[in-house]
Amino acid sequence: MKAVPLCMSKKVLITRIIPPLAQELLMKAGFEVSVWPGAGPMTQPDLIERAKQVNALISLGADKLDKTFFSQCGHLDIIAQFAVGFDNIDVGEATRLGIPIGNTPDVLSDATADVAFGLMIAVSRKMFYLHKTIQQGAWKQFEPLKNLGQELTGKTLGIFGMGRIGQVMAQRCMGAYSMKVIYHNRSRNAEAEQQFNARYVSFDELLRESDVLSVHSVLSAETKGLFNKEVFKRMKPTSIFINTSRGGVHNEVDLIEALQQGTIWGAGLDVTNPEPMKSDNPLLLMPTVAVLPHIGSATVEARNGMARVAAENIIAFYQRGHVPYCVNPGVLVERK
Ligand code: DGY
Repeated sequence: MKAVPLCMSKKVLITRIIPPLAQELLMKAGFEVSVWPGAGPMTQPDLIERAKQVNALISLGADKLDKTFFSQCGHLDIIAQFAVGFDNIDVGEATRLGIPIGNTPDVLSDATADVAFGLMIAVSRKMFYLHKTIQQGAWKQFEPLKNLGQELTGKTLGIFGMGRIGQVMAQRCMGAYSMKVIYHNRSRNAEAEQQFNARYVSFDELLRESDVLSVHSVLSAETKGLFNKEVFKRMKPTSIFINTSRGGVHNEVDLIEALQQGTIWGAGLDVTNPEPMKSDNPLLLMPTVAVLPHIGSATVEARNGMARVAAENIIAFYQRGHVPYCVNPGVLVERK
């Protein structure tokens, strides 16, 4: 168990160029800040070498903070992830070493739910595909029986992972399309049940009843590759699969096959497996598929909010021994 260091002039490394607000807040609070200036993430050896020189880190999803990293950087006081997801971090190892891990929820919930909502509409009306056909000169005349999509009003939205983002997605779908909301989660969410009349269902019911199934869960040992061939077979042939959480939650080869064979109707992905998706991926040619390059939190508002929260997690830790958004809060209790 480490004691909370009270003195300032601590060194913080930010592992990519992020909105300057993070650096500004940290410097105003007396920290010495360095920012990796590269256009992409550091290699792990570079990251380790630089992290050895500092007390705290603002990390991003592409940084591999695994056992190898922690074996050499166990001295870090705190790691503040510039993301809500933290599947790149071995939290068990960080916890064992007494290192709190901060993240940035809430500030990106609207932005990410907007992407899930937008993908749902885009898929239901084949928008991305039809846009491409115009570029190819295929728009010749009005087509009474072609390009038909599906309507969303009154349909059933299934949320897998009813956390903050799942709740905003439910709110959007209920408000815009009076969709019925069902959900499956590790635990019941009383707020969602009250606010959206959301019904808690088993995983099997979620698959059977959802017209749109939107994934908002974390990537963990339980969810890795969960949406596979067998699972797609249990969904409605008219259903739309949306994933804005982590690509690792679905098996992409199985998803391609499920779409090709009509096991499910469509898919909207902001996250792919692997990332980045290759430009010759068959999903990009399918009429009922819409893919985006992991832009869930990519708004000015969300990214500024993430920069602020990441910095505040570090500042509050050194000033008060408290991390406002902490994924392993037990570490802080132990420090007291
Ligand atoms: C998040 O915040 O987890 C986004 O996916 C960006 O990594």
